[in-house]
Amino acid sequence: MAVDTTINAPTERAQSGRFEMPTTIDELRRSGIGDSPLPAIDVNDLKVYYDSEAGIVKAVDSVSFTLQQGERLALVGESGCGKTTLGMALMKLTKPPGYIDGGEILLDGRDLVPLNDEEMRLARLAEIALVTQSAMNALNPVMRIEDQIFDGLIDHGIRDTKENLRNHVYDLLRRVGLRENVGRMYPHELSGGMKQRVAIATGTSMNPKVIVADEPTSALDVVVQRQVMMTLSRVQRDTGAAVILIGHDMGLVAQFADRIGVMYAGKLVDIGTVQQIIEEPKHPYTKLLINSVPDLEEKRERLTGIPGIPPPLVDLPPGCVFAPRCPSVEDVCNELEPRDIDIGDSRHVMCHLFDEDVNMAGRGVG
Ligand SMILES: Nc1ncnc2c1ncn2[C@@H]1O[C@H](COP(=O)(O)OP(=O)(O)OP(=O)(O)O)[C@@H](O)[C@H]1O
Ligand code: SF4
Ligand SMILES: [Mg+2]
Repeated sequence: MAVDTTINAPTERAQSGRFEMPTTIDELRRSGIGDSPLPAIDVNDLKVYYDSEAGIVKAVDSVSFTLQQGERLALVGESGCGKTTLGMALMKLTKPPGYIDGGEILLDGRDLVPLNDEEMRLARLAEIALVTQSAMNALNPVMRIEDQIFDGLIDHGIRDTKENLRNHVYDLLRRVGLRENVGRMYPHELSGGMKQRVAIATGTSMNPKVIVADEPTSALDVVVQRQVMMTLSRVQRDTGAAVILIGHDMGLVAQFADRIGVMYAGKLVDIGTVQQIIEEPKHPYTKLLINSVPDLEEKRERLTGIPGIPPPLVDLPPGCVFAPRCPSVEDVCNELEPRDIDIGDSRHVMCHLFDEDVNMAGRGVG
């Protein structure tokens, strides 16, 4: 049995991080989203690089965005554009040869970048949680589901009666649409969709303020994918957590998210509401992405229909990284790197077509 059960005083470990940690199930239930006026997460000028033999791979290059409490942001872009690197960096899970080269990750106003390993270990799950495609395979095959969830809670300093812990686990299972008896089962007794629901229950067991979901459904078949996305939606509504959903599938993410951020070659080149991005795409890359999905309502396509390939992220030439593939390219695009332009309505685009300080003959097509 994974858990010793009686009520203990809060552990030193639970108090040591910079975040205030709940120590009982009751405190945990009340620890969810408060009425903080601060954004749930505020990322400023984040740079995540890999050292490689060919040079420095700028996988996330000066990315900035803000996510309000309870907001749902989808990050899309072709394979290799830096989505997973960004998601892992937000969790401070970047492993060598990768490293965070600079920037801030303000979670409810507190910067995660300078936190040490132990502070960050506690912040994970309690403040920011990760659900990945492979989360369901990370379940311990020889432990009952409820014991695995108990362990996560205990490891984060929760001390309470066995009954309270068990009731919390049952609540978590119900929230992801599973019956209580799943708690007594072992992973091999569950289907892929059930395992991914368990992964969502585990990820949200400490009421995190932010959930990073990196392609949480791509290992599942289409029907189960939709069910798991509905589960994630319900959990998001119930907990009020902000969610960053990383995905390839425009149709699927558009149904889930409030806003879409489009990444290209390590940069966040376009960000706006789902409606803005889909109905009025501005950045030439976003336009091509949207056009590559024949029918957003019905069809589910991977983002592969754009001519050309993204550049290697080492030794990028000057100017706009999208220039070699851009239908609107002009001479200036090969010389000057585009800035992040605020075009109003919380919409940002990184393209000279929207920069009034840059002379573009093709302006007006955007
Ligand atoms: N360990 C590593 N060493 C060197 N380069 C790496 C390493 N891991 C990732 N990269 C590079 O970083 C870039 C971003 O990779 P990342 O996995 O973040 O992309 P992604 O957008 O998540 O792609 P996908 O859609 O395929 O999941 C890629 O160019 C990749 O080759
Ligand atoms: S800056 Fe130039 S090359 Fe880059 S996306 Fe805009 S128009 Fe295209
Ligand atoms: Mg990825």
